[in-house]
Amino acid sequence: MAYENILTETRGSVALITLNRPKALNALSSPLMAELGDALLAADANAEIGCIVVTGSEKAFAAGADIKEMQSKGFADAYVEDFITSGWETILRVRKPVIAAVAGYALGGGCELAMMCDFIIAADSAKFGQPEINLGVIPGAGGSQRLTRFVGKSKAMDMVLTGRNMDAQEAERSGLVSRIVPAADLLDEAMKVAGRIADLSLPSVMMAKEAVNRSYETTLSEGVRFERRLFHSLFATEDQKEGMAAFVEKRQPVFKNR
Ligand code: HXC
Repeated sequence: MAYENILTETRGSVALITLNRPKALNALSSPLMAELGDALLAADANAEIGCIVVTGSEKAFAAGADIKEMQSKGFADAYVEDFITSGWETILRVRKPVIAAVAGYALGGGCELAMMCDFIIAADSAKFGQPEINLGVIPGAGGSQRLTRFVGKSKAMDMVLTGRNMDAQEAERSGLVSRIVPAADLLDEAMKVAGRIADLSLPSVMMAKEAVNRSYETTLSEGVRFERRLFHSLFATEDQKEGMAAFVEKRQPVFKNR
């Protein structure tokens, strides 16, 4: 598939996907989301890739779903085409880690997309918000649910009801982002983190992602049981033998993803 709204690149074992509609501040149109979904699934299926980074521009990760595309929709259109579920949730099917590297605006669907990634590394210029209320609607790609899990009810209500933005400091303080880096270093840092993950044993990385995600969907005791099953299963891998032998022999492990 030739892409018009994103750029894709492979650096070592990391796939880098850059949202690329600069004139519209990377507004997430349906064609863009279809391309993003396609690129994500391609990276997930590529045995050479161990981690994926999704980023935008210096000014905007993404300023939301495309308002000009949504403007004329009626209820029946939105309902029948299941706007936005199809396409948007492809990212949730990706089993390898996906890091959002966010600079500038991550608003509305842009914030929701970042929250669908596994974690967010923010530039000090990042601004997060769910301003849909200003348009007479509410978040539609999970924002009211995921933001609440990240930052708690009080701050989520504040954001969703007033539409105000959070800066990078507030986002880190409240648990929305995992770390903040200077804007000029964002991509280098995100690629470095992704490269480190990509060098690890892929089965353990994928199971770690699966285990953490399970915590959102189940009780503590069921989640712990689930984790234990995955943990035990990793003792069947060659990489577990290699990882532990390397530690004992005081050398770097060489993982084979087996
Ligand atoms: C379509 C958008 C857009 C968007 C910006 N643009 N955001 N187009 N959809 N979400 C376009 C503008 O129309 C303009 O195009 C160009 O990008 C530059 O934007 P400006 O507004 O001129 O830039 P600036 O003054 O710097 O302001 C930046 C901004 C503002 C504060 C981010 O653009 C803004 O408020 N955007 C909308 C943010 C928002 O409401 N997002 C939520 C969308 S609803 P032209 O052609 O005029 O130059 C949503 C629902 C999700 O996301 C639900 C499910 C997915």
